[in-house]
Amino acid sequence: MSYWHDSAPDYPGGREGWLPKKVEVAVIGGGLAGLLTAYLLGEAGIDTVVLERRALGEGQTGNTTGKITCQTGLIYRKLENTRGASDARLYAEAQTDAITSFRNIIESERIACDLEQLPAILYTRESPSLLEEEAISARRAGIRAELKRRTALPFDVAAALAYPGQAQFHPIKFLMGIAPRVKFYQGLGVVGVHGRTILTDDGQEMEAEKIVFACHYPFKNLPGMFFTRLHQSISYGIAVSGIPPLDGMYYGIDPDGISMRSHGNVLLMIGGGHRTGEWGKNPDTGLRVLEEAAERYYPRPHIISRWAGQDCMPPDGLPLIGEYSPLRPNWFVATGFHKWGMTGSMIAAKVIRDKILGKRNPVEKLVRPNRFGGDTLRAMGKETGYAVSGLSKRIFLPPAEVADELAPGTAGVVFRGGEKTAAYRDSAGELHTTSPYCTHMGCELAWNPDTKTWDCPCHGSRFSPDGKVLDAPAVKPLENGQDPSDKTHERKPT
Ligand code: FES
Repeated sequence: MSYWHDSAPDYPGGREGWLPKKVEVAVIGGGLAGLLTAYLLGEAGIDTVVLERRALGEGQTGNTTGKITCQTGLIYRKLENTRGASDARLYAEAQTDAITSFRNIIESERIACDLEQLPAILYTRESPSLLEEEAISARRAGIRAELKRRTALPFDVAAALAYPGQAQFHPIKFLMGIAPRVKFYQGLGVVGVHGRTILTDDGQEMEAEKIVFACHYPFKNLPGMFFTRLHQSISYGIAVSGIPPLDGMYYGIDPDGISMRSHGNVLLMIGGGHRTGEWGKNPDTGLRVLEEAAERYYPRPHIISRWAGQDCMPPDGLPLIGEYSPLRPNWFVATGFHKWGMTGSMIAAKVIRDKILGKRNPVEKLVRPNRFGGDTLRAMGKETGYAVSGLSKRIFLPPAEVADELAPGTAGVVFRGGEKTAAYRDSAGELHTTSPYCTHMGCELAWNPDTKTWDCPCHGSRFSPDGKVLDAPAVKPLENGQDPSDKTHERKPT
């Protein structure tokens, strides 16, 4: 659980009872994008239901930094170069509008979510020219951008670029404020979507005129084929208590850069990221990187939370929002936020609301899911390579471990009963075994010792040691793992 869950009050829970048989719009995924979409549709008088497999915020919203900002990494120079100045301006306007919309909702709904206005600050220790160029492009896009040499960080920087007037909040408290305003069902997983019919993991069926996939990674392979152009990246977070608040939200642009923000006297440090399923491939990644940084910069740091989160990475840095596929005009998708899920979610909610209402949204052309430029085609080739590699490990990579030799707290792919088996020995010495093959498309899984999960290098599904699905696109548990008939979320009719 992340710091945000640790520091939020208990949420009493979503709706109970049976789903309606029919609804105008069903939103799959009760994170920020899903709840905002339902909220805006509800404002427009559209009957909307949200289905969330887990508890409120247990997906990726609870793992973010909670920065609400138009500063989404080094994006404006890239947009100018690839799409032109007017599209860079359009992106900036959509981001700025999203910040305003957050403020308006928080104010009108009186949501106590620790909203603060602060600058968002990019920093570098090695490439000041990148920030100088970004400043020029950001200003051309209409953003106030100020270059600085000094910051409040506990180390020297070569340059920093501040965007004043941004915001940060407590993402779980915000969700808790918005969830009661929508028809939110939690603990109810969607296991199938066929046309207008949604099937849930407790055997219910619901008809929806429109269906919105706001479930982080779209799990329907066809149509859409998002797996050919989206991968997932995992990042780690720690919360250190007793640190005086920073003067802004910091984001490091160097390969080993750490993102930092404060929440009162707690400092959040995010970084150590890598492609999901590749823990240990690069020694400069993982939770240890953050723990060492905290030791380096703060005497005897008191780390109160450790966690990891996943981001869907689109090929060109822009999210994928809009029609799922021309073959399914009543399905919509919000994904690929590229580590910037706060403003991305608000933009998604607005674009999808407008599409459902038949209104044109100017930013729609930038984020439409079915765009196939050079970046996308290159990504498709790369993702195919990952899939081939992940599948070929099934046959050609021999097991690296012997089950009897696994020490407590370690895991590996072993031979058991003549078959490859994913095995984890917990700290009490008990062995947990399951299939090592992802139920999305069959790639061989890899162990992540920081999160104690089986992670898929192909498209980023993640599973618990007993095979339970933690992250899509997989929706089925691992074979020989968690009993699929184990309905821990089973509910009775009221
Ligand atoms: Fe696609 Fe595992 S997530 S094969």
